[in-house]
Amino acid sequence: AIYTWVDQDTCIACGACGSTAPDIFEYNDEGMAEVVYAGDGNTGTTEIPAALKDDLYDAVDGCPTDSIKLADTPK
Ligand code: F3S
Repeated sequence: AIYTWVDQDTCIACGACGSTAPDIFEYNDEGMAEVVYAGDGNTGTTEIPAALKDDLYDAVDGCPTDSIKLADTPK
């Protein structure tokens, strides 16, 4: 299982992740990324399905500030 969330203390609102993985990431009013998949609310408690793993890993690789966190258990 894989879980993800954005560290908004280090996100610089670059906008890459929502383009790479639009099913997982959107932006709040300040442009900071947040995990929205299945209503996760950036809590890192919603399992990301296998079909979205490639998009997720691409987003992690593409984040310039390493703000997209991964875990194999809920945060
Ligand atoms: Fe922020 Fe990284 Fe996405 S800087 S907007 S979490 S690609």
